[in-house]
Amino acid sequence: MNIIDIILKKRNGEKLNKQEINYVISEYTNDKIPDYQISALLMAIYFRGMDDEEASFLTSAMLNSGDTLDLSKISGVKVDKHSTGGVGDKTSLVVAPIVASLGIKVAKMSGRGLGHTGGTIDKLESIPGYDVSISEEDFIRQINDIGIALVGQTKKLAPADKKLYALRDVTGTVDSIPLIASSIMSKKLATGADVIVLDVKVGEGAFMKNVDDARKLATLMVNIGKLQNKKVVAVLTDMSSPLGMAVGNSLEVIEAIDTLNGNGPKDFTELCVVASAELILEAGYAKNIEEAKELANRQIANKEGLNKLVELVKAQHGDYLYILNPSRFEKSKYVYNVLSVKEGYINNINSLDIGNASMKLGAGRLSLDDKINPRVGIVLTKKPGDYINKGDIIAKIFSDDVLDKNIYNLILNAYRVEDVYNKVPLIIDIIK
Ligand code: URA
Repeated sequence: MNIIDIILKKRNGEKLNKQEINYVISEYTNDKIPDYQISALLMAIYFRGMDDEEASFLTSAMLNSGDTLDLSKISGVKVDKHSTGGVGDKTSLVVAPIVASLGIKVAKMSGRGLGHTGGTIDKLESIPGYDVSISEEDFIRQINDIGIALVGQTKKLAPADKKLYALRDVTGTVDSIPLIASSIMSKKLATGADVIVLDVKVGEGAFMKNVDDARKLATLMVNIGKLQNKKVVAVLTDMSSPLGMAVGNSLEVIEAIDTLNGNGPKDFTELCVVASAELILEAGYAKNIEEAKELANRQIANKEGLNKLVELVKAQHGDYLYILNPSRFEKSKYVYNVLSVKEGYINNINSLDIGNASMKLGAGRLSLDDKINPRVGIVLTKKPGDYINKGDIIAKIFSDDVLDKNIYNLILNAYRVEDVYNKVPLIIDIIK
């Protein structure tokens, strides 16, 4: 087999077979094919696409390029949840404990944030002491003991994806549906859960800017899951505005705690209940989706979800008193109000701009080595559908530095204010 023939085949729009895809991935992982040839192949895939079977072969090849977790020592159904990356997306911090509090085993490995999107692991690390890098043995032991573990992805998981993703990042080939689908699914399948709920974000702050593309990505990931005998559900959700009110690490953890206490923002709570309900239903813990939603709501009302989060934080050496009393979280040095200069209904709040403003405050990172500041971020005080007057406080900036006018203006201009409000649903579709 030879890489030039494979590049030509894809360039000419033909389908690659399993052997060819396995060859490319194994040779590239072992540094036997140079970046420039893989770059050419990635660009050919970008333009020519891949069908479901090819994407599934690519997923398998990447998942087999490294370690896979063996969850067979954990009894019962194991579930996982993944988001394609959003702004203010702290859903896992709520969904995982709700589901685990019902006895469903949650085995979740999460990533760090990059660019304008945040990562669950960074958020968890804003809880003092929380250890995101426990061993595989402890991961399994903890799930058997308390039903949940939320840790960082090990370096040995799907190393081919790590290499390919870095190359895609610098060759203009990130936003290819088969490449995104196989990248996400290789990591999800490597961690061994039986049921996976994918939150596929749509809008300005997401990889997928329109519903048609998001639907294609979601359908492909669901089909890859089916080809690998997993139950995969994709929830398409709007990311034209940030999710909830808080954007920034400890601010988001506080909002997750509020939500588990029954006091979360409406949009965020709705998504948490829907994502939890899909996991509950597919895990076989409810007869239908209505019953599953009732169970999710019940675990919020009776604080069982919150208690599970406390248990999780304790098990991973975090200071659980922060969960019981979020006022313990260290505050930023300054808080600045953003005042509206317009009057009317907020139609949307550009999540890409809010994510970038949050990153500039220090809550996110431009490159993987950047350090993040857990205290800083933005809390929106008005959301789409709200009517605002000139001078109203529309957001609060939590900063450790004196006010940066550029950041202030980025947030101010993220608000689209108009005479009428056109509601966009948060849950756009559910694909299984
Ligand atoms: N997240 C991933 O893990 N991979 C992609 O390609 C895009 C988003």
